[in-house]
Amino acid sequence: MIQTPYYLIDKSKLMRNMQVIDRLREGSGAKTLLALKCFATWSVFDLMREHMDGTTSSSLFELRLGREKFGGETHAYSVAWADHEIDEAVSHADKIIFNSIGQLTRFEAASAGIQRGLRLNPRFSTSGFDLADPARPFSRLGEWDVSRIETVMDRITGFMIHYNCENRDFGLFDEQLGRIEREFGRLLERVQWVSLGGGIHFTGEGYPVDDLAARLKAFAGKFGVQVYLEPGEAAITNTTTLEVTVLDLLNNGKDLAIVDSSIEAHMLDLLIYREPARLPRTGDHEYQICGKSCLAGDIFGDARFERPLKVGDRISVQDAAGYTMVKKNWFNGVKMPAIAIRELDGSIRLVRDFGYEDYASSLS
Ligand SMILES: Cc1ncc(COP(=O)(O)O)c(C=O)c1O
Repeated sequence: MIQTPYYLIDKSKLMRNMQVIDRLREGSGAKTLLALKCFATWSVFDLMREHMDGTTSSSLFELRLGREKFGGETHAYSVAWADHEIDEAVSHADKIIFNSIGQLTRFEAASAGIQRGLRLNPRFSTSGFDLADPARPFSRLGEWDVSRIETVMDRITGFMIHYNCENRDFGLFDEQLGRIEREFGRLLERVQWVSLGGGIHFTGEGYPVDDLAARLKAFAGKFGVQVYLEPGEAAITNTTTLEVTVLDLLNNGKDLAIVDSSIEAHMLDLLIYREPARLPRTGDHEYQICGKSCLAGDIFGDARFERPLKVGDRISVQDAAGYTMVKKNWFNGVKMPAIAIRELDGSIRLVRDFGYEDYASSLS
C-alpha cells in the first residue's frame, strides 16, 4: 500500500474525458490545447497527447514544460513577458499571444519569426467569482477597444478570448459567442485563428457536446478561422483523488477527524474559493475532516460514513486534479502528497514522492 498522502490519477477516467475531446474535435474541427495552469502532471501526458493538439501556458516555465513534456502545438501566453524572457519564449513557441498592445509593440521585433496573437477581452464573462472574472472592472486581461486593436491587425494572425468559467450552460455559451460575433466580427474576419480559451465544462454529465461542436464549426466557417479551445478543468475533471489517512479523532461539540494532509497546502484552490472538498457523503456517521496544518480553518469539509471512523482509516477526496496539484505548497512543512497513477489495467504505479530534501531545496 502506498503511504498517504498521495494524489491518485485514474487513467481510465482520464480516457473518458479524452474520448469526449475526440468527439468534439471531430465534430467541430477545433484544436484543443491543454491549459497547463490547471494541470501540469506530465506523467500522464503520454495518454493525453493522443487526444489533444498541444498545450497553452501562462508563463515561461509552463511554456517550456509544454514544449518538452507534451509536444505538439505550443502556445505561449503570459500576462506580461519580461525583456529577459522573450527570446527563450519565442524559441519554445509556435504562437505567442500578447496580453496588450503595449507588449505586442515592445516585442514586435523579437517575435517576428513566429505567429503572433492578441488577447481580446469581450468585457463580459460567465464567472461568478470576482477573483476569477476576466471581465471584472479595470481588468488587465486583454484589449477590448476595437479601434485601437485595428491599428495592430497587420502584426497578428489571431486572437485569444478567454471568458468562460466552469460554464455548463450551452445556451449561455451560444448566446455569448453570438455577442462576440456581433461586437468583434469585423476583427475576427481578418485573422486566421481564434482561441476561445478554457472554462467550458463540456466533459460534464449531460453536456450537449454535439451542439457545441456544431456551434464551433459554424463560428469557424463564418469567419474562416481555425478555432482552438484551451481546456484545463474539462480535460481532467473527476479523474483524480487525494488519498489521506485519519491521524486523530476529537469531539469538540462535533466529531472531528484530522488527516495527514492539509487543504491549505494540498487543495488550496478550494480554500481560496471557499468551497468544501468532495468527501464521502453516505452513512449516519458525520465528521468534519480537518487538515494537520496549524491554520485554524484548515478544514476539508463535512463527510458522512457508514461506520464510525478510527485512526488509520483511509479517505479519498474527489476531484483533486484541477488547480490543485499545480498549487501544492510546503506550508508548515507538511509532507507533500506523492503522485500515483492507476493504469488502464488497474495496477497502481507511484511516479513521484517528495521528501525532506525537496522541502529544504524549495528554500534557502
Ligand atoms: C487564458 C486561459 N485559458 C484557459 C484556461 C483554462 O480554464 P479552465 O481550466 O476553466 O478550462 C484559463 C483559466 O484561467 C485561462 O485563463
